[in-house]
Amino acid sequence: MKSIVVTIFGLILIQAASSQSRINIIPKPEQVVEKSGEFTYNQKIRIYASKEFRSIALLLAEMMKVPAGQILIHKKGTEVPTGAVLIEKANTPSNDSAAYTLDISKQHIHIKSLGYAGAINAMQSLVQVILTNNDEGKIPCAEIVDKPRFGYRGLMIDVSRHFFPPSFIKKMIDLIGLYKINTLHLHLTDAAGWRIQIKKYPKLTQQAAWRNGNSWKSWWNADRSYSTEGEPSASGGYYTQEDAKDIVAYAKVRGITIIPEIEMPGHTDEVIAAYPHLGCVGNNGKQGEFCLGNDSTFIFMQDVITELLDIFPSTYIHIGGDEAGKSNWEKCSKCQKRIKDNNLKDAFELQSYAIRRMEKFIASKGRQLLGWDEILEGGLAPGARVMSWRGEQGGIEAARMGHDVIMTPGAFCYFDKYQQEPSSEPEAIGGFLPLQQVYAYEPMPAELEKDKQQFIKGAQANVWTEYIPTMEHLEYMVFPRIIALSETVWSYREKMSWKDFQSRLLKHYAILQKYTVNYCRPSDRVGISPVINIEKKTATITLNTEQFNPDIRYTTDGSIPSLNSLRYNGPFEINGSAMVKAGVLRSGKIAQLPDTLPINFHKAVGKKVNYNINYDNSYPAQKETTLTNGYRGSITYQDGQWQGFTKNMDITIDLGSTEKLSNVQSTFMQIIGPGVYLPDFIDVSISTDGSKFEPAGKSLNDISPTVSTLLFKTFKVDLTGKEGRYIRFFAKHHDGYLFADEVIVE
Ligand code: ACM
Repeated sequence: MKSIVVTIFGLILIQAASSQSRINIIPKPEQVVEKSGEFTYNQKIRIYASKEFRSIALLLAEMMKVPAGQILIHKKGTEVPTGAVLIEKANTPSNDSAAYTLDISKQHIHIKSLGYAGAINAMQSLVQVILTNNDEGKIPCAEIVDKPRFGYRGLMIDVSRHFFPPSFIKKMIDLIGLYKINTLHLHLTDAAGWRIQIKKYPKLTQQAAWRNGNSWKSWWNADRSYSTEGEPSASGGYYTQEDAKDIVAYAKVRGITIIPEIEMPGHTDEVIAAYPHLGCVGNNGKQGEFCLGNDSTFIFMQDVITELLDIFPSTYIHIGGDEAGKSNWEKCSKCQKRIKDNNLKDAFELQSYAIRRMEKFIASKGRQLLGWDEILEGGLAPGARVMSWRGEQGGIEAARMGHDVIMTPGAFCYFDKYQQEPSSEPEAIGGFLPLQQVYAYEPMPAELEKDKQQFIKGAQANVWTEYIPTMEHLEYMVFPRIIALSETVWSYREKMSWKDFQSRLLKHYAILQKYTVNYCRPSDRVGISPVINIEKKTATITLNTEQFNPDIRYTTDGSIPSLNSLRYNGPFEINGSAMVKAGVLRSGKIAQLPDTLPINFHKAVGKKVNYNINYDNSYPAQKETTLTNGYRGSITYQDGQWQGFTKNMDITIDLGSTEKLSNVQSTFMQIIGPGVYLPDFIDVSISTDGSKFEPAGKSLNDISPTVSTLLFKTFKVDLTGKEGRYIRFFAKHHDGYLFADEVIVE
């Protein structure tokens, strides 16, 4: 391996060793002992299995192209001939039914597990070993002992915003099963379409499953109208109950539970359109929430759930609960009567009343209600389980009250975000969640008390599909990020390393290719991360990419890096201002346009900023230091360097003494999906005493607020010949959020 010869970094030598390993299972097993030699087999191989594991033997046989006739039921205690596979039920190695041992020797392959889940997990490990060692007929010897850290390892697919057919859902089940994801949560209803047949309410699938508008975006931006099955322009679809039962059975064999979600009380526009009597008084069929003063709403939900219980045997039944608007309830006479009759305080308690009622119903059927973390508002129902999506706080709060929690915080688990440089990707809803950030996710909140940690059951990735109209696109958003998440929910932190994961992942791209998965290819983009020392005017720069052991070349003077530029061997220090450019070298050339980071120790670095209007508390970034700390924001406003404003940005920088000035500038971003806009203009004035300000110049926005791709614009005002100590910087808020990273004074 040429790339490691010159380095003195032990870490990289270790990586090289692991990349030569023949066992590259993801998620990382608890214990792997690699052995010399191989188990060799041909199509005559026999697979013995305990009776309850026969369907697992069938899956393995199909994968190994072994005829089903060679699967034999194993009687406990009997010998198995040399050269066979044995999948055996055992009371060891542990009392965790998902735990397993997998012993691959020259003589046999022996799987032992107490439960079906463990035997499936073992089989998937074996399949990975086979698929990542492409020498057919030879499997490298090893002893593997393994069990999961978390019992709930999930993926949610929003099949409402765009419908995905059963065949595709089965493909996803096959793929996520390979990575020991054991729960598939289907978001079956939302404003954009109802996706499950309910026999008692046929209009849900005759009408509410169909809309005018092929893509969610075109529908959302038009009149958001619905259609009827069979109309030429109708777009949508649904799962019949038979389809859904078939999916559930298919998943079960593969160790995966399907959780159905029916949204209530919000995100129900399509239901109200089909059944206007479920909306508030005077709704005209156009409303996004159920009327909660109306008993028909509860009868409807109970009827729907009753039919669901027959299809989906999952313990958890998800009732949504998120983002319900309260304004209709405040105006509706029936909702107001319900509030009064039940001594409720407000609309939040009304929502809580509705969830409690559903919780009681679901519990009476022996199941458990699961909902998004808004179900905490107005008081959590006694037996409810919580999916924490607005950060981790809801999950922490619920766990402290002794309720089970699934972690799905947006910053780590929302796979509808960009994962690479947005201009290189299909349009997404916004945000930025690269592979490494998924891998960095730790589902157990550090602040949660030890005795409450048992309530964190695991974590889940969510794929909201507003911007994901096709199966190929959905695959792109899920892979490889779900592979990274699989390790964060299965493996113990102390066994995990990003470099080791990257090295194992290299072997898995071939699996994704074999199964024609349109995965997101590892990017050549170089992330340039500084640690800035304001006093010394130095910066320590770290470079990283999604490539494994890349040859990165960089410059610090703004020139384009090439074969002759410095090679990156680890963090380096720069003195004073610099323009860092870096790129991945491949076949003697930089693989794409180099990435750039300016380090600018300008006149305002480290200087005090006074806020004439405060920043928004949801996006404080580094609070008062953000705009003069020398750090630039990256491509996401969630990186802790972009400060958000929901009103005008109006600050005054105190340089500490009067200085000769040449210009002032700041960069803003626009991404209109999540409501982030450039300012209409910036306006700068300067002062020597802090009370009398002279206008110094304006810079107008010339980019339309309808441009929907992520973009950045630097607004600059020339100050040549001017002097001042105080700089007042004003940016006119357009709409939604305004984000700024640094105000540069030169
Ligand atoms: C959600 O993202 N509204 C749960």
